[in-house]
This record gives sequence, structure tokens and C-alpha cells, in this order.
Amino acid sequence: MDSIEIKGGVPLKGEVRAGGAKNAVLPMMAAALLTNETCRFTNVPKLRDVDSMCMILRQLGVRAERVQPHTLELEAIDESPCLAPYSLVSQMRASICVLGPLLARRGRARVAMPGGCVIGTRPIDLHLKGLRALGARINIDRGDVIADARKLRGAEIYLGGPHGSTVLGTCNVLSAAVLAEGITTIENAACEPEVEELCRFLKKMGAKISGIGTKRLKIEGVTSLKGAEHSTIPDRIEAATLLVAGAITGGDVFVRKARADHLAAVIDALRQIGVKITEEANGIRVTSNGKFKPMDLTTLPYPGIPTDMQAQLMALLAVADGISVVTERIFPDRFMHIAELGRMRANIRKEGTSAIVIGVKYLSGAPVMASDLRASAALVLAGLVARNTTHISRVYHIDRGYERLERKLARLGARIKRLKT
Ligand code: EPZ
Repeated sequence: MDSIEIKGGVPLKGEVRAGGAKNAVLPMMAAALLTNETCRFTNVPKLRDVDSMCMILRQLGVRAERVQPHTLELEAIDESPCLAPYSLVSQMRASICVLGPLLARRGRARVAMPGGCVIGTRPIDLHLKGLRALGARINIDRGDVIADARKLRGAEIYLGGPHGSTVLGTCNVLSAAVLAEGITTIENAACEPEVEELCRFLKKMGAKISGIGTKRLKIEGVTSLKGAEHSTIPDRIEAATLLVAGAITGGDVFVRKARADHLAAVIDALRQIGVKITEEANGIRVTSNGKFKPMDLTTLPYPGIPTDMQAQLMALLAVADGISVVTERIFPDRFMHIAELGRMRANIRKEGTSAIVIGVKYLSGAPVMASDLRASAALVLAGLVARNTTHISRVYHIDRGYERLERKLARLGARIKRLKT
């Protein structure tokens, strides 16, 4: 198992490029099940989660090939398989995205229920509610979701739960409704850029969707869809993580491809913390003097502060000059990083769904353990500013969502390396 070693204290300087968005490409890959023609995706990041989705699609009769390092071709050549087994689904929750497309195109699906994970319980009741509203019969048997529908019919669907809209739930229902008979409206649809991107891709395939980017999607079902080509949008979470890396080290970093229109809330938070953010042509520059003001922040659905940036911003606030309150509204238990940051001398206390972050003068490098993707990124950021050496184990979590993070940071001057064991 690989680990990462960081000797902190170097202000990062230079330019780095944000890659394609993992969370945009995964539901689009699943949508390739909606046609037997070839779908081609460019700017696809080389990540473990993308590889996992390829494995699931292959199991479902799809030819999945990386024809170039960042170009992926998918073609459903055998449309009879309908089973996504637990051995694959358990590796990545986003595999639930195949449920809607399978049902819409093949009329049946057996997809293992994804379990909870370290960020919380992560139910799929809203996915199932939406698909049932379209006419699917759904049962849970021996840990699998078993769904079938001779014909899906358009419906009015409200997709909200106790924590607001659902990103993958919206993707799933949307990807089924495109082939349903009649009109579907999804109220309280998630408006994350990744959902918008799926809509754009589906439209290229021939789907009829309006209200894209809003909380009310209207879908007019069509009888068939064709293959399409699409370039993946830049990963806003990777971009934001790199901005925090520049900020926390008191550096000067230009993140090429970072899109300010996707990052308004994060940019606003960084400015409140005292970091200088400049929008430049084709990217965002961060400059910082290494001194940070505390702030209270709350994660919210888009366009609010993303839950996927909560841990990284907490690492920054851990070295701010004062007390901050970080409240998690999407995944109330997503606080595994607190204990590990504590091993690095951070002073953070969990209070219900909030964390009280009492800024400390410095962090101290330590052996720590990555628990999930974004928590691992927070530990890397903390390691970049900590005194001495930080050693992060279980970095396979980072590889799920950041392509060669250590190389990108090393090119900016960080003393960081991957240790193979
Ligand atoms: C997506 O997960 C992302 N994953 C997550 O990114 C991200 O944290 C999350 O959206 C929120 O932005 C992918 O895109 C692959 P949700 P998703 O359904 O769609 C509750 C990362 O680090 N809910 O929008 O599974 C749920 O418990 C990952 O890259 C229900 O109650 O999240 C949560 O409280 C982690 N019932 C809230 O809704 C449901 O049926 C939002 O979850 C579904 C969700």
C-alpha cells in the first residue's frame, strides 16, 4: 500500500492544471448504456473511480477502452447483462448510476445496494422513489436492488430529502426519464455543474431536456438515443483543493482551467479568510501571505460551499488566527479528518453537525491515516504547512479522486513524495 511523505513549510509557486471532473464523468459514463452506439469522452482523469466504472460497464456488456491517456471510448456491444455485483459496486458508490440507464434501455436491472461509507449512511431512497414514479417495480433482495419496467412513463417527481437535493439521484432519474414515454419533471433537482454536464451530454445523444442548471428539469422522452462525444469539465473540487494548497503555504499559484463560475462560494470563503484570489484568463490565481482570518462556514448544495471542500477548508482554518465554526449540512457525519488533524496538533472539537476550529500557531507533522478521499486531501494540505514530516498512509483514497496529486504539488515546489511498499 502506497503512502505519501511530506516535509512541510515550502510556499508553493507556479502553475498547475486542474484535470477533468471525476463526478461529472462517472454519470456520463453510465449514460453510455442508453445507446448501442459509441460514446467518446475526452479530458477524462486517470483515477481509480473511473477504472472502477469501466469495470462495471464491462460487466454490463460495454466495450470500455482508454484510446488515449485521457480519452475514453464506450460502446454497449452486448445489451443482455443487467447485473452490477456487490464486489464492484462496493468499491465505488457512484456505480448506482447504472440503475436508471439499465432500466430505461434494457427494461431490467439488478444492482447491488451500495452500503454506507465513512462519510455517512448514504441512502438511495430518493433514487428509488424517482424510478418508481416512472413506473419501475423495485424490490430489495439479498442486498441487491432488483428493478424492472416494461415501459417507463413520464411523471412529476419531487426529489428532495432531509438534506436537500440529491446529485446522483437526479442523474439516475434523469437518465431513465430521457427514454420514458411522455414528459417528466424533476422538482428540486440538484443543480451541481456535474448534473448540468450530464444534461448537456444527454442532449448531444438526442435527449430533450429543458431547465438545465435549474431546480426544475423538464424531460420529454424520446424512443432512442445515439452515440456522442463530450469533453469533461474541469474538476472544481480538485481546482479548489489546489487553491487551498497555494493559500495554506503562503504561496503564489495559478490553477489553470479552474472555473470561477463553478467556485463562487469557495472563492468568497477564501477571500473572507484573507487570501487573495484573482480571476485570470483560463484560470484562477491564489496569493497568500500565510496569515488567515477565522470564519464560520456551512456546506450547502450548489452554489453553496461544497461538502467535498469542507475538510480542506477546515485544514486551512486550523491555522487561522482565531475560532471558526464549520457546519456540515450535507453529510452530518463527515468529520473523520478531525481526529487525524488533531494528531498534527490542530485544535478541533466536534459539536453535533459542526466543528469548532480553534486556530493554532503551527501544525506538527505526524503519521496519519487517510480515511476517505477529501479527508485525505485535507491531510495533504495540513502536511504542506506543518513543521517536520507528515506521513500519510492508505493513500489509495486520494487516488480515487486526484490524478497524481503529489506530482502536481511537487512541481509547485512541495517536498512531497510517494513511497511504494
Ligand atoms: C455526490 O454524491 C458526489 N459523488 C459526492 O462526492 C458529493 O459529496 C455529493 O454528491 C454531494 O455534493 C459523486 O458525484 C460521484 P447526494 P451523492 O445524493 O450523489 C441524502 C466525493 O468526495 N440522500 O447529493 O451520493 C444524502 O444522504 C464524493 O467526490 C438521501 O437522503 O450525494 C446526503 O445527505 C463524496 N437519499 C444528501 O442527500 C437519497 O436517496 C446529498 O447526497 C440520496 C441522498
